[in-house]
Amino acid sequence: MPRTKFVVGNWKMYTTIDQARDLAAAVVRDLGGEDRVRVAVCPPFPWLTAVAELVAHSPVELGAQNCYPANEGAFTGEVSPIMIREAGCRYVILGHSERRHGLGESDEFIRRKVRFALDTGLDVILCVGETLAEREAGQLHDVTSRQLTSALDGLERERVARRLTIAYEPIWAIGTGHNATPEQAQEAHRFLRDRLRGMFGEETAEAVPISYGGSVKPENAAAIMGQPDVDGALVGGASLKAESFLAIVWAAV
Ligand code: 13P
Repeated sequence: MPRTKFVVGNWKMYTTIDQARDLAAAVVRDLGGEDRVRVAVCPPFPWLTAVAELVAHSPVELGAQNCYPANEGAFTGEVSPIMIREAGCRYVILGHSERRHGLGESDEFIRRKVRFALDTGLDVILCVGETLAEREAGQLHDVTSRQLTSALDGLERERVARRLTIAYEPIWAIGTGHNATPEQAQEAHRFLRDRLRGMFGEETAEAVPISYGGSVKPENAAAIMGQPDVDGALVGGASLKAESFLAIVWAAV
């Protein structure tokens, strides 16, 4: 069965509450009843409940950008998967490079989060990707394979097949305007799918969507998502305007 394309807006630490409401309302309005592509938005934590109300009863789904691997506790400043669920989210983004590299999150910490989020009923969007230095040193496969294996090893096939999305986000392409070429994206995605096949078998590897992230724009979206192993996009900057985000969504149809 062909995989339905999945386009996710990662709003990062942008938007005021008014901008978040306007953006969510515009995405809901402009998407209409479109169901040939799956669409989700991931606002900052404080706006989740407000955006949840706006996307309710629409095909637009909601995700959070992070979580802590505990239900509750003395973890000042952290947000639990249960809270995220209660706020109306289906998804959580984990392992984003801005947290791995900017905030020092380890493979082991991300592994714990992935398990906790799945146990709580959240679907996980797991980000993997290499730095420019790693790519130039020929380490693309080693790095992304390590990130994937560390986060997923030991999970049940069923969970991986139904509840997980991989986002390949080469760090050198994030926020730089320099997207991976469609061929570079396809090569990395095919490698990741082969790794999934090795870990979980053919059926699971074919079921898991692998989305691309890193300077996705309306101008490059169709070519990148047109590759056989690219199943969608994780969009940063261009998701902050309904017009550019929806143009990327239409490129996926
Ligand atoms: P940009 O689309 O701004 O490059 O960000 C990509 C990203 O990090 C999405 O998670």
